[in-house]
Amino acid sequence: MANIRKLEDLNLGGRRVFCRVDFNVPLDGKKVTDDTRIRAALPTIEHILAQGGRLVLASHLGRPKGKVDPALSLEPAAAILAELLGSGEVTLCDDCIGDGPRKVVGDLRDGQVAVLENLRFHPGEKANDENFAKELHKLCDVYVDDAFGAAHRAHASVDALPRLVGERGAGFLMQRELDALSKLRNEPTRPYVAVLGGAKVSDKIGVLEELLGKVDTLIIGGAMANTFLAANGHTMGNSLVETDKLPLARALLQKAEVGDLDLLLPTDLRVADGLNSSTFDVIQVGGDLSGRMALDIGPESAARFADKVRRAETVFWNGPMGLFEKKPFAQGTLTVAEAMAACPGYAVVGGGDSVAAVQQMGLAGEMGHVSTGGGASLEYLEGKPLPGVEALNF
Ligand code: 3PG
Repeated sequence: MANIRKLEDLNLGGRRVFCRVDFNVPLDGKKVTDDTRIRAALPTIEHILAQGGRLVLASHLGRPKGKVDPALSLEPAAAILAELLGSGEVTLCDDCIGDGPRKVVGDLRDGQVAVLENLRFHPGEKANDENFAKELHKLCDVYVDDAFGAAHRAHASVDALPRLVGERGAGFLMQRELDALSKLRNEPTRPYVAVLGGAKVSDKIGVLEELLGKVDTLIIGGAMANTFLAANGHTMGNSLVETDKLPLARALLQKAEVGDLDLLLPTDLRVADGLNSSTFDVIQVGGDLSGRMALDIGPESAARFADKVRRAETVFWNGPMGLFEKKPFAQGTLTVAEAMAACPGYAVVGGGDSVAAVQQMGLAGEMGHVSTGGGASLEYLEGKPLPGVEALNF
């Protein structure tokens, strides 16, 4: 953050403040099912309005592939924002560039808000197109980035656009995310424990490799553990196993052994006939899984993982331990979430499904930090520069 201006240092009053937010929220039809990301941007939004800024909010939603898709309109998010701000004064533009938004933004008075329509309705957003960025620039005197969740994307609104704007800086959410995650990246208090779960090893290769060299204990659960168990020679029945990642899993296991790293895999599993089963058996790893699949870690593994988490000084968790959306397979994830909440050290939940899990379990408020960025937090911890952060440097 050394060369990045903070929101509180920007001159906002009476100016058109283009604020990139991450309103990529889950929808059920027109209903926002989790408004966490909108709430997380509120401190920045309220600050800009209180300073008399003419606020222009911009976000992507889903992956519409450069075409207008009414199902991915930002209308439901704008409605939630209006509710949260307690004012009906949130105008949704019918596009994000062109005459319509220019008129709406031109008519804004100090302390009023316009929301641009989904940036990804234009191919120029994803292509980081300079001309598209120039069109957005026409709506903007000051640029604020509060979209940590999109900071790993070199897209026009997070990369090309801020480079065109002289006065630019990081919103409060962006600052909070970078502060929280930089503690893990640069100065973790030890013991430092990382818990990785979720379905695929392939999504987490970079972070696995990086964390192997950084943490004191690496815990692997969820369906991605199946690939590691298979790499250790276990037969996993019908469980999800990424066979093309077996050599990588073997190499990582070997690296952990050579480096004398404490790497924990499940020792028991909850197994069932299929994803919709309501009953399960607990079996030891190495037991007979034929015709069945592992859908959660077993109680012995959950207790072992939780014990390490509770005793950590720093802990990072990304990815559920099993199919937590289904009650019979939620116990492993719940046990880890409770251990995170009980951990007296610095406990950080890094985006995606693990955030949904702690929210569903009512434990989000007990964590040191809950990141709004899934891919972004992983890439940041991998040590990769985030385009959205780099572009704010001056
Ligand atoms: C996210 O949900 O992780 C961010 O909004 C980024 O979305 P994307 O993966 O579609 O770029």
